[in-house]
Amino acid sequence: MSYEEIILDHWRHPRNKGRLPHPDAAAVEANPLCGDVVRIELGIKDQTIQDIRFEGEGCAISLASASLLTELVQGKPVPEAARIADEELLSALGGVVRTRLTCALLPLRALRKALASGSSET
Ligand code: FES
Repeated sequence: MSYEEIILDHWRHPRNKGRLPHPDAAAVEANPLCGDVVRIELGIKDQTIQDIRFEGEGCAISLASASLLTELVQGKPVPEAARIADEELLSALGGVVRTRLTCALLPLRALRKALASGSSET
C-alpha cells in the first residue's frame, strides 16, 4: 500500500482507539506546532504490552500513525517497544513527507513518555 492508502485506511478504520479501564501506563503528548494531542494508554503484564489504546485530537496523519503504532506495539516486550525508532514507524507508514514528520511521530513520543513514566497520568 502507498503512504496515502495506509494513512486513509487507519484514519477511516482506526485500530485500538479508545481508553483502557485501568491502564498501567499512560501519557499525552502535544505537537507544539499546532497544539494537537495524542494520548497513549498501555496495559502491561509480565513486562509485555498486552493492551494498547490511543485517543487524540489531531490531523489524519497523527491519528493514523497512532493507530498503526498500536499494531506495531501490541504484544511486544516493553524494552523492545521502547526501542522502536522513528524510522521504523515512518517506514511502516510508507514514508512521510518532511513537513509532516512532527505529526507522524507524535504518537511515538507519547508511547516513549508512557513507557518512561511506568504509571498512569491523567
Ligand atoms: Fe497537528 Fe498534524 S497538524 S498533529
